[in-house]
Amino acid sequence: MARPSNPGGRWNRVYVCSCFGITEQQVKKHAEDGACTPRQVASACKAGTDCGSCVRRIQALLRRGEYPRRELAEQGQPALAALDEAA
Ligand code: FES
Repeated sequence: MARPSNPGGRWNRVYVCSCFGITEQQVKKHAEDGACTPRQVASACKAGTDCGSCVRRIQALLRRGEYPRRELAEQGQPALAALDEAA
């Protein structure tokens, strides 16, 4: 059986924050850019700043990614250079 096409990966979108339409991919991108806490993700895209029901999910995504910049933040070193540049 042939699989239907998936133009632009539209069917792979998993929404994390329905209040602001933020997907798992967007949260992961913010994490790669240096966000290592839900608050930092919220600063980048507002996810978690309305009803708050997505904050635990965002936290889990951040933990799952094991982003190396988290270690920088824990050592007190700048980890948000990419976000600061984008602001
Ligand atoms: S679902 Fe994210 S703030 Fe409501």
